[in-house]
This record gives sequence, C-alpha cells and structure tokens, in this order.
Amino acid sequence: MPSYRIAAMGGDGIGPEVIAAGVEVLKVCAERDGGFTLEFTDFDWGSDYYRRHGVMMPADGADRLRAYDAILFGAVGAPDIPDHVTLWGLRLSICQPLDQYANVRPTRVLPGITSPLRNVSGPELDWVIVRENSEGEYSGVGGRAHKGLPIEVAQDVSIMTRAGVQRIMRYAFRLAQSRPRKLLTVVTKSNAQRHAMVMWDEIAAEVAAEFPDVTWDKMLVDAMTMRMVIRPQTLDTIVASNLHADILSDLAAALAGSLGIAPTANINPERDAPSMFEPIHGSAFDITGKGIANPVATFWTASMMLEHLGEPAAAARLMKAVERVTADPALHTPDLGGRATTRQVTDAVCEALRQAND
Ligand code: IPM
Ligand code: MG
Repeated sequence: MPSYRIAAMGGDGIGPEVIAAGVEVLKVCAERDGGFTLEFTDFDWGSDYYRRHGVMMPADGADRLRAYDAILFGAVGAPDIPDHVTLWGLRLSICQPLDQYANVRPTRVLPGITSPLRNVSGPELDWVIVRENSEGEYSGVGGRAHKGLPIEVAQDVSIMTRAGVQRIMRYAFRLAQSRPRKLLTVVTKSNAQRHAMVMWDEIAAEVAAEFPDVTWDKMLVDAMTMRMVIRPQTLDTIVASNLHADILSDLAAALAGSLGIAPTANINPERDAPSMFEPIHGSAFDITGKGIANPVATFWTASMMLEHLGEPAAAARLMKAVERVTADPALHTPDLGGRATTRQVTDAVCEALRQAND
C-alpha cells in the first residue's frame, strides 16, 4: 500500500488554522479510501521562526523538503515584517529551487456559492489558470543604487527564457487538451512589451503546432479582464506570465464567489522534486485566531494534492464532500456571508467523507 510523506507548513496568520483543518480532513480521506496512508511532518517555518532566527527557514530548507512527496502550505506574510522579506524568504525560496514552474489555479463556482456576475449561475465559469511560476516578472533580478539620493535608481528585470516559456506553454496546452473543451487562451502584452512578450507569443504559436486538437487564442491582459467579466463562458484553460496570472487569478477568485475558496498548486511536472499545494487567500491577520477562516480553499488544494499523488478516487471523493458542504449556506464562513466556524466546516466535510458511498 503506498504511503505518502507530506510536509505540512502552516506558516503565518490563518495558515496554521487552515492547514490543521486540511491535515484532519486528509487523514479521514486516507481512512475512508483504505488504499493508501499519509504521514505528516510539521514545519514551523515562517514569520515566528524569523523573529527567533532572523531567517524565514533554514538555509537548506528547500533541500530538506525534497524528502517529501508533497508540501501542504498555509500562508506567509506578517504585518510587522516587510512582505518582500517574508515572501522571498519562504514561499518563493521553495518554488524556485524545487522548480515548481507550473502554478495551477482552478476556478469554479462551487454549489451554494454566488458569483457576483449577474449571468453566472455556475457552469458558465469553469477555468484553470496556468501561471508561469519560475521566471518572468518574479525572476528576482534587479537592484537599487544610490539609495535615498535624488539619483536613486531601482530596477526589477523581467526575464523570460525560451526553455521557460516553452515548458509552461507545453504544460498549458497539455492541460487544455485533457479538459473536455480543449480550449486555451494565451494572455500577453506584446503590444507594449516588445521583447520578451513577443517571444512569448512566438513560442505559444510554435507549441500550438504540437497540439492540433487544441483550439487556442491570444488575449492582451487588459482586454482579458473585460472578457473574464463579460464573456466568462468563452474561457476554459488560460496561460499567463507570473505577474499577469497573479492579478487575473485574484479576479477569477472574486468572480467565483470568494478568495476563501480558491486553491492553487505549485507543480513540478517532471516530479524530480515535490510539488506544493496551498490556498490562495494568504495570512489574513484581521481574522487570525478567531476560528472563522474558511478552510475550503485548503480542502480543494488537498484534493489537487491527492490527484497529483496518484489518488484520483480519493481526490474526487474529497471534492464531492466539499461541494456537499458548500451547498449548505448554514456551513458558510463569514467571508461567504455566513456564520459558520472553521471547526464546523471541517467537521461537516469529515462527516460527508465518512458517509460517501462510492
Ligand atoms: C499569490 C500571492 C503571491 C504572489 C504573493 C503572496 C507573493 O499573491 O500566490 O498569488 O504574488 O505570488
Ligand atoms: Mg496573488
């Protein structure tokens, strides 16, 4: 029987609360399935660790994670530490060395959730955003000189490589091909950014030739925001650069009803290092410790993790249990306009899993 080793890292803010809920639910998933086991190891890296040690994680942190089959990650970011320190110190320092270059963000309107879009009842909005996760605007290349002087200069350089663009395009086309509509939209800004984004477009067209059964089109990122709002049903799989997809995925989450339910997976498609699964919502210090964080995003990403580990039946069962729970407004947390607690939602999902009759 396969046994998977999971690194559980709550991180900051509500991260530890939702990860604890996720671990609990995953344990029930394994029990209910009976075909695999999960072994969790807790990691206390994050802002508290930083206050004690001056770093967000040990220098060999990313390497230590290689021993695991997957990483379940909560959130990072604290009010008293600059964001670029916390984010680069933990999340981005895991994604880049472990080459989790495909960031996958499914967006659907789950049962019981209301989209702010008047014409969307559910099926009209069913997308997967593929975000380039290793380079582009987040390459970390740049610098500052003459700090504080009138001649101060600061640069963030967006780097795109042929190899990097090719591999994310292939990933996106393959994903689009696996979905019923076989439809991909490539987001770009090659009208204004005339070097890297032009290469991005060229490579998209080259890779498209390898996938003749996938219908694809190209959209400028600004026009894309309008299309997502006005004609959501015309989109299915979407691929975009690191920053473009960062922005579009928040819009997508809002259009699907709440950032509290949006999941993400940082995938290493070659599987030469573990992939990392996390809710998108972040640390949410305003509600930390109140027991009202929405654990649904973590449950959804846990389902993505099971799928990635090769347990599709358990993944589907978990997603079905989540949907049974979101369908009941009495089990909505405050971000969805309800009054339920993290505990109540978690118990309800565990119960739905135990009752699952497949
Ligand atoms: C996300 C987040 C992160 C990002 C932040 C927290 C650095 O917004 O996962 O979308 O921009 O990548
Ligand atoms: Mg974001």
